[in-house]
Amino acid sequence: MDIKGLIRIIPDFPEKGISFKDITTLLKDGKAVKYVIDEFCEKAKGLDVDIVIGPEARGFIFGTAVAYSLGCGFVPARKPGKLPFDTINAEYVLEYGKNSLEIHSDSISSGQNILIVDDLLATGGTLKTTAKLVEKLKGNVVGIFTLIELDDLKGRDQLQGYNVESLIKYP
Ligand code: PRP
Repeated sequence: MDIKGLIRIIPDFPEKGISFKDITTLLKDGKAVKYVIDEFCEKAKGLDVDIVIGPEARGFIFGTAVAYSLGCGFVPARKPGKLPFDTINAEYVLEYGKNSLEIHSDSISSGQNILIVDDLLATGGTLKTTAKLVEKLKGNVVGIFTLIELDDLKGRDQLQGYNVESLIKYP
């Protein structure tokens, strides 16, 4: 299925020079959503996933669907100040800006197998930070899956040693 053809490119958003990959045009296509989630689940076979974790906000969309399909729990990695209980935090630098992510300190148990799912691997900061949060709680990162990978930003270099899979690549 040509899922790449369903992604809308928006030049100079959210700032000049950024070619934004708009996934809403893919998300409104039911067959494409099913295809993407099925592809992720196929790649997750044999990983013995206990928990799927997705970074805010677009990681929630794909992460929860994968969790449902695998019969796993889902943990949201949220932007600061959103989670009500005790949290752990890690900082990252974005393609455009800086931020940090938090998870509840009781969201992952030691030794659990964790699959990280997001829409986009750009600089890799978000996914590296998510992996750090998992490892702070002694979870095993068994995979890092994204819909889109931007090759030129070399985010994959930040994720060496992890099982990184993407479904669509752009230069
Ligand atoms: C986007 C995207 C990824 C991240 C990738 O999220 O959904 O999570 O950036 O960039 P990186 O590889 O350079 O870290 P964003 O922080 O814009 O949040 P949003 O999903 O809430 O818009």
